[in-house]
Amino acid sequence: MSSTAPLSEKSPENLTAYVNGDFVALENATVHIEDRGFQFADGVYEVVACIHGHFLDLGPHLDRLQRSCAAIDVAMPCARAQLEELIAETWQRNPFDDAMIYIQITRGAAPRAHLAPDTLTPTLIITSRELPRPSDEKLACGASGITLEDFRWKRCDIKSIALLASIMGKQEAHRQAADEAFWTDADGHVLEGSSTNILAVIDGKLVTHPLDHQVLGGITRSMTLDLARKAGIAVEERPWTLDESGLSECMLTSTTNAVLPVCSMNGKAVGNGKPGPLTGKLRQLMLAAMEDLRRT
Ligand SMILES: Cc1ncc(COP(=O)(O)O)c(C=O)c1O
Repeated sequence: MSSTAPLSEKSPENLTAYVNGDFVALENATVHIEDRGFQFADGVYEVVACIHGHFLDLGPHLDRLQRSCAAIDVAMPCARAQLEELIAETWQRNPFDDAMIYIQITRGAAPRAHLAPDTLTPTLIITSRELPRPSDEKLACGASGITLEDFRWKRCDIKSIALLASIMGKQEAHRQAADEAFWTDADGHVLEGSSTNILAVIDGKLVTHPLDHQVLGGITRSMTLDLARKAGIAVEERPWTLDESGLSECMLTSTTNAVLPVCSMNGKAVGNGKPGPLTGKLRQLMLAAMEDLRRT
């Protein structure tokens, strides 16, 4: 394994990526133009938060990565223990104390044809970027959302790198001056966001769409449900709509946002239009779990 960026040269201008066996300076980090990730979006990915060198729920993230690989019939490029070491080393070689580590696996490079030879070596890349935090304004006022009828594929449980529909959703949200687009099914049930899960508080219970092929099983979603159950908050995983009576709060969850209130949807206030108490409580519990990691 070679490296062009010694640990002593860590700075935000000097980032290091792992690509197929080597740690290289980010500006030199490339894959073949016939990589199937580039040609077909034939790959899967993960994003893990790292707090001061400790990974938040790395086990469930790697479980999901293995499930995504198995679903598209791509072998994991290395043993799990080695992948954990590479992820830790990528964090270590980059300057961000709190980082989001991006791991992408594609089927590999081959002359372009839909059916791939079964002899390919999967491509593995790992990068580290500063863990973004929601702005103070977003935390104080909440995020805004729009709804769009879901036009994605029918395997949203796979964390695929094919994110065109999500990009189109985000662009539409941006055009409407909103933060996130939330997908609904033909009956108006709210499924998830372009890059987030969504949970509602209905009659005091935390409600979110059940895990099926229409949603990604967000690691932050499941952490939030666990924290809620431990705090004695009733949880219901069932289809739900925005016009249910008793709906008082909405919140989105993701690795990069933790738990964030959603206070308007399609230009209308959710509940009283302010971040709600249960959302605040769950965000605090999530941040406390992250701070525990920092102290570990
Ligand atoms: C479609 C979708 N749903 C949910 C999530 C949230 O998942 P996690 O909490 O594991 O970051 C993501 C994250 O990228 C996503 O792309």
